[in-house]
Amino acid sequence: MRSLASEILIDAEKIRRRVRELAAEIERDTPENGEIAALIVLKGAFVFGSDLLREINRHVRIGFLESHRDVEHPGLADFAFTHPFRVEGSDLLIIEDILDTGHTMNHLLSRMRSRRPARLRTVVLLDKISRREVPVPVDYIGFQIPDKWVVGYGLDEEERFRNLQDIGYVE
Ligand code: IMP
Ligand code: MG
Repeated sequence: MRSLASEILIDAEKIRRRVRELAAEIERDTPENGEIAALIVLKGAFVFGSDLLREINRHVRIGFLESHRDVEHPGLADFAFTHPFRVEGSDLLIIEDILDTGHTMNHLLSRMRSRRPARLRTVVLLDKISRREVPVPVDYIGFQIPDKWVVGYGLDEEERFRNLQDIGYVE
């Protein structure tokens, strides 16, 4: 669906251009004969992840991880692999939709580090930098955005709007 957002923040064409740039950077930083173990954090990153990975000219294994924000304990997040996925010894690339307080990514990083990847990189499409509560190392960032709830391009508001091509605000 093209758009239902009441105000567009980043349109589909701008997203496409930035995703290509991020892919080119990641490709450049990956050995030609290397293999990326790409971990897409569901559900939000499924659109970004599929666009990004198709622009990367390297071998890729794809895994999915479900993340659930614990509403009662904002500092906690829970993760589960949807299918078995080898992390140990891999060139791991965590693909996330958005960084808000940073707690989700922070927990995820410590969980993944304990599985001993050979290398660990993170790519995030959107960054609400002003909301950060814990510092999170991110290797590749798409766009920095203001502190307002955004939807589209995988991002939802109560499970709606994930299929919008643009990223924007709803009333
Ligand atoms: P954090 O733990 O506060 O960094 O929260 C990150 C998670 O919150 C993301 O993975 C999203 O699922 C969700 N999130 C934060 N802000 C937004 C938004 O503006 N739109 C949609 N989801 C968001
Ligand atoms: Mg998410």
